[in-house]
Amino acid sequence: MNRINKVVKQIENQELASYLLAGCRAALAGGSIVKDLYNKPHSITMKGEIDLVTEADVASETAIVASLEQDVQGVEVMAEESAGKDLVEPEGLSWVIDPLDGTTNFAHGLPVFAVSIALLENGTPIIGAIYCPMQDELFCAIKGCGSWLNGEPIRVTKTASLIQALLATGFPYNIHDNLETILRQIKAVLPRVRDIRRAGAAAVDLAWLACGRLDGFWELELKPWDTAAGWLLVEEAGGRLSDFSGSKYSCFGRETVASNGILHSELLKLI
Ligand code: IPD
Ligand code: CA
Ligand code: CA
Repeated sequence: MNRINKVVKQIENQELASYLLAGCRAALAGGSIVKDLYNKPHSITMKGEIDLVTEADVASETAIVASLEQDVQGVEVMAEESAGKDLVEPEGLSWVIDPLDGTTNFAHGLPVFAVSIALLENGTPIIGAIYCPMQDELFCAIKGCGSWLNGEPIRVTKTASLIQALLATGFPYNIHDNLETILRQIKAVLPRVRDIRRAGAAAVDLAWLACGRLDGFWELELKPWDTAAGWLLVEEAGGRLSDFSGSKYSCFGRETVASNGILHSELLKLI
């Protein structure tokens, strides 16, 4: 049985199962395009001084949207490369898509990147799918039902002290507006933990937290498509997300802290 059917067959709610199937199929379609383009020369345009768009971002987005529209009719779509600047939190159901999370890695030949797709219901994810094509790892989650990696259930770690914790973070493209905060946070966190990673793809950071490879993650100024799917993956694997003050998380907010839950309040104090 393939990895998606292994999950789908455990889901009683047929509507949720069909959304999961659609999200996973679209993530695999986008990921396969990105992987095919990985070793070829890239055509790169700039969205900002250090913010790249490649042919793979655009081709993946086109394939994902087509796949979702074929499988599920009438659901709104918010996809990074066509979303524009003014993001309004959608009401009802909406697909939120990052066609290539980790574009800088992709463009430099670092094989850490993913396709991230979430289905939001009134701003909260009910389906999440993150596909890392170079590792052929398909992460998925369904609200109230769990999180899986390649069809097997996943859980966050039980790490209970920061000094045993491996954390991850990331840096926003508008680094000049946030440099002081970021340096202050690194200075506070680094001496108190086992180590910090900057893998270069927030969706991958959250997927790795959900499956126990990392114990925590934080970043400023992420966008809904960076975190929507990972949010559900982490929560359904037993972890927690919040803003920097510990308040209720929104993927439309500026602040993301995610952890295995146990370390959350300690991490918040440092951040
Ligand atoms: C970026 C990655 C990166 C994070 C940036 C994101 P992109 O997304 O997730 O890890 O630090 O803030 O914008 O541009 O590669 O899709
Ligand atoms: Ca992204
Ligand atoms: Ca992207």
